[in-house]
Amino acid sequence: MKIAEFKIEEWMNKYEASALYDLTTTCISPLSLSELPYEKNIFNKKLDYGDITGSKRLKKAIQTLYSKKHFITVTHGAIGANQLVFLSLLERGDKVVSIVPTYQQHYSIPQALGCKVKLYFLKEENNWLPDLEELDKIITPDTKLLCLNNPNNPTGSVIPDSMLKEIVKIAEKNNIWILSDEVYRGLNLKGNPYSTSIADIYERGISVGSMSKTYSLPGLRVGWIAANKALINEANHQRQYNTISVSTLDEYFAAVALENKNIIEQRNLKIMKEGVNILTNWMKSQPKVSCILPSGGTTVLLKYNTNMLSRDFCKTLQQETGVALLPGETMEMEGYVRLGFCGKDLKPALKKVGEFLNSH
Ligand SMILES: Cc1ncc(COP(=O)(O)O)c(C=O)c1O
Repeated sequence: MKIAEFKIEEWMNKYEASALYDLTTTCISPLSLSELPYEKNIFNKKLDYGDITGSKRLKKAIQTLYSKKHFITVTHGAIGANQLVFLSLLERGDKVVSIVPTYQQHYSIPQALGCKVKLYFLKEENNWLPDLEELDKIITPDTKLLCLNNPNNPTGSVIPDSMLKEIVKIAEKNNIWILSDEVYRGLNLKGNPYSTSIADIYERGISVGSMSKTYSLPGLRVGWIAANKALINEANHQRQYNTISVSTLDEYFAAVALENKNIIEQRNLKIMKEGVNILTNWMKSQPKVSCILPSGGTTVLLKYNTNMLSRDFCKTLQQETGVALLPGETMEMEGYVRLGFCGKDLKPALKKVGEFLNSH
């Protein structure tokens, strides 16, 4: 299968490691195993394949994130979960609508599978939220799948519950599936940190989650799909060919983390709020950039006012200051850069970005 270059990942592989200040990251200060209350006898555990579709303990812990009972399969991160969903549902010629900006998997894999993919662009003037009338026109009875990412990477927007219900009405009318990539669910800055999951309000809603963002354990490589029986059966069928099972050790630590999720959530919301405060204060002194402040997630899209393309902007910024940002072009959003506000040294990094903007 030929597939487009994954632009974000290519960029980060090239620039992230050498950055003095990494503002490309979407993670919230990853945890170490020693910070988790694990049982010491875990090291006596025989490393067999474990339960093939995920341990009972982990599935039980994942189920607590939802208000309705779901079928669940455990995957190699959310990246593995998304891919399994596409492989399970899509065939050449199927029509897919993908709301962008988003994680590139959500359009490049369907395109590589030979689907007709329509990109629906969120607009800054709508606070990076979909316009329901426009969406209603784009989604038609021959659409098979709508892909969204809620909370959204990179914009930090969160679809309000009332709007999500309207999206479900459009989906129901056209009898389509909705894949909601919910890796940032649990990171809303206002109100309940958890937005409503699509799987809890729509029978054909597919929720993808993972340990990487909300729970600060990206190195565990544990994700999941929560959906109806038919979808999970098909995903498990596909999964035999690329997963067998997920590391039993990773699953164990993921279960322990989810069983203690309240502590991790409080820690992370604190880091997020500090990050947003620093960002908000910095923005006040920056005439050359603007952004919609985030409602959730760990990133914002900054619009900048200089004569540089976003790739040149980020390259020159990193050369001159050591600060890494992600070019909007890698997310089909030229004229913007993505800024992760939960990384370390945000304040000195933004100071450097400010100096750079003043001199260009
Ligand atoms: C929206 C989104 N989905 C999926 C992923 C992949 O996550 P994971 O580390 O769980 O594979 C990312 C990683 O940045 C992401 O931002």
